[in-house]
Amino acid sequence: MNYKIVQPTDLAYFKSIAGCSTYTDEEQLQRCAADQTEDLHYMPEVVLQPTDTEGVSAILKYCNEQHIPVTPRGAGTGLSGGALPVRGGVVLDMRRFDKILNVDTRNFQVTTQPGVITQVLQEHVREYKLFYPPDPASKGSCFIGGNVSENSGGPRAVKYGVVKDYVLNLEVVMPNGDVMWTGANVLKNATGYNLTQLVVGSEGTLCVITKIVLRLIPAVTENMLLLVPFRSAAEACAAVNAIFLKGYTPSALEFMERDALEWSMRYVASTGISLPDDITAHLLIEVDGNNKEQLYKDAEAIAEIVQGYDIDEILFADTHEQKEMLWTLRRKVGEAVKSNSIYKEEDTVVPRAELPELLAIIKSIGAEYGFKSVCYGHAGDGNLHVNIVKADMSDDDWNNKLPLGIRKLFTEVVRMGGTISGEHGIGLVQKDYMDIAFSKTQLTLMKQIKEVFDPNGILNPGKIFV
Ligand code: LAC
Ligand code: ZN
Repeated sequence: MNYKIVQPTDLAYFKSIAGCSTYTDEEQLQRCAADQTEDLHYMPEVVLQPTDTEGVSAILKYCNEQHIPVTPRGAGTGLSGGALPVRGGVVLDMRRFDKILNVDTRNFQVTTQPGVITQVLQEHVREYKLFYPPDPASKGSCFIGGNVSENSGGPRAVKYGVVKDYVLNLEVVMPNGDVMWTGANVLKNATGYNLTQLVVGSEGTLCVITKIVLRLIPAVTENMLLLVPFRSAAEACAAVNAIFLKGYTPSALEFMERDALEWSMRYVASTGISLPDDITAHLLIEVDGNNKEQLYKDAEAIAEIVQGYDIDEILFADTHEQKEMLWTLRRKVGEAVKSNSIYKEEDTVVPRAELPELLAIIKSIGAEYGFKSVCYGHAGDGNLHVNIVKADMSDDDWNNKLPLGIRKLFTEVVRMGGTISGEHGIGLVQKDYMDIAFSKTQLTLMKQIKEVFDPNGILNPGKIFV
């Protein structure tokens, strides 16, 4: 695809769009040149901040005619490079779409613009005693539009599902400027192809989301949190499935290797928990519901299950402060690893019962290819984040040998019935591995779908496919 470099006449057009701000200053371009993915950096030529659907439509129609690349951007918290303007052009910065438009308390739905911070949305619907469960680690800064575009997850997915399970309907702008709703505001819909779910997780490559209708559920009032220290990481992984097999579905079931927790404790300067030398991993287990007594019983029962393994003393957190401390440590793992070393983050996911095998394979491939990994994540979903740290690996090994190790790891993951991203998306950094997860027929079909939506290839070029 040949793209046009943005010209002064193009800038003049962008400036004429009502309500749209146009930035070409170094600070704004730099801000939109990176997201949270490694240390990647790609400069856009211009940053546009429209304020309404008409503005997005005008921008896309124009760029489509002029063959100017457009990279939609939420809060820039993504971990697969989805928001990076790898072909330059326009960054379509959705930060001014920051209004929650309507909470429908009769139907348990919320209609929101995409630039609302996920936690703000959660707290807002909570005032109506309603609950929007998906809770990516970046919930305090990420945008709901980015969550929909990446089909994000988070710890609560194990009980409540991921973003796709809450999206009912989307207002989107097509690359040619057409505006449409993808579905209907209903809980059941067997009408034609499911365009809504096609757009969810499409990483800004098909159309631009301008309104989102989400399903909500009644607020849950109580929860309890357990931190379980294991002397063997393999046993921690094995205990995960045992909890489900005994009939319990925690509202979060997170795994952290020792380094993950230790680095996070150092990163946030936490002294709240002790970490004996022989502990190699932890499970962080949350149960929730509306009946405190029942929760205590569930927590006790889960404690009994994990006591069948080689564990140290369980920390039962039932004060707000203790829970917050533990969740902060868990959510900060990614940032802590990033602050420690150059790293790459893989987002492996396997059927839950295969988790112990996944961890063993990660470590044995690491030994074979000479890389160290720090693993953590959503064990209850079979979803492990594998942070590969560069540490003292040579640049040559990092650039040339490591991709072979990652390829081998993903091949094993797919063999186990899993896939190469659970919740971070493919974006830029995983696209070289798509051939492991999909056959030629599948990839051709996906590329054809992309072409139908975006025949000129202007929307988020260079992503998902090589
Ligand atoms: C987490 C992010 C990295 O689970 O997905 O912390
Ligand atoms: Zn995660």
